[in-house]
Amino acid sequence: MLGRPDITSFALGQPAPELFPVEAFIKASREVLASNPGALSYNLPLKSLKAHIVQLMAMRGVVCNESQIVVTTGAQQAMAIVSSLLLNRGQQLLVEEIIYEGIQLAVRPNEPEILTVPTDLETGMDTEEVEWLLRKGSNPAFIYAIGDGHNPLGVTLSYEKREHLVRLAQRYGVPILEDDVYGLLHYEGKPVSPMRAMDERMVFYAGSFSKILAPGLRIGWLVAPEETVPLLSSLKYGNDIDTSTFSQQVTCAYLASGGFPEHVKLLCEEYRIRRDAMATSIAEHFPDCVRVVVPSNGMFMWLELPTHLDALELLRFAIEAERVGFMPGVAFAVTGAERASHSIRLSFPNCPAPQIREGIARLGRIVKASCS
Ligand SMILES: Cc1ncc(COP(=O)(O)O)c(C=O)c1O
Repeated sequence: MLGRPDITSFALGQPAPELFPVEAFIKASREVLASNPGALSYNLPLKSLKAHIVQLMAMRGVVCNESQIVVTTGAQQAMAIVSSLLLNRGQQLLVEEIIYEGIQLAVRPNEPEILTVPTDLETGMDTEEVEWLLRKGSNPAFIYAIGDGHNPLGVTLSYEKREHLVRLAQRYGVPILEDDVYGLLHYEGKPVSPMRAMDERMVFYAGSFSKILAPGLRIGWLVAPEETVPLLSSLKYGNDIDTSTFSQQVTCAYLASGGFPEHVKLLCEEYRIRRDAMATSIAEHFPDCVRVVVPSNGMFMWLELPTHLDALELLRFAIEAERVGFMPGVAFAVTGAERASHSIRLSFPNCPAPQIREGIARLGRIVKASCS
């Protein structure tokens, strides 16, 4: 329903389709097919793509080499194979109490006991609480953390907390799965390096081209502790044999053309405009009692409404009366996240600024009416 054309939807984590580098991909596809029909075969992971990923990781402040990289079918598969590697059936897993639903789905086959910690909306995951859980004997298979552009909370994990989490991982021997699919979508301030830059033994880093090129490519990657790469590669192989060779080759040809850094710059400029349009319109049209997290990275704005409001009910009104959609916070709640029931996630990259302003004005009417 949220994909209906008559609805202004702030629901989905879709990048702006009009900014996909279509012409460059048409050119890259032609080049690949003309020079190498084997691009349509099964193949080994492309070494030249790994070399580009090493360069891209350097843009994130992470030094790594090709033998630490596993190319995956999106970051989603990266999460699934790390879970297969680290998580035994029924074992504990540590996540934030409001978190990307994809990790919850990736671990579900192993039926873990999920431990949760709260998140501070300014500094990120409560690492003191992580320490308390570990000190009192919890033994999670891994800790899942999003450093930048948290989905759905928008918050950036502070440098101090990254250091603290890495120290805890080292002291208690609990690996971290660091999800950094939004790391390069950065809008202001000095970027903070991922935790992988602090430790290459305990941190499994998941990256993706989905948000910075196009999700339809289905290319992600892991930068993993080197000794785990053979096992992760065979888990990946058992899962889907290959990440589309054609997609890898075309992406590689595109990256070799040199346009990627400019493309990321363009995305950041345009998404910053959309983010600002959303934040300004919220300030104008929403009542003061709504708390807003304006992110410096990523795609999402998190809004906490007065506690008596039910975000699911609000969604129904918003669609029926004003044809505006969003994700209710409960979609991301693991356990005990009471605040999720009166919160909403808005995605800003997917609509141009004028449509954002109009949609937020309409949504503001619904929120105001519900608050009064
Ligand atoms: C935090 C987070 N991690 C991973 C993914 C999945 O990315 P991919 O398309 O690379 O599988 C998403 C997609 O929305 C996401 O928001």
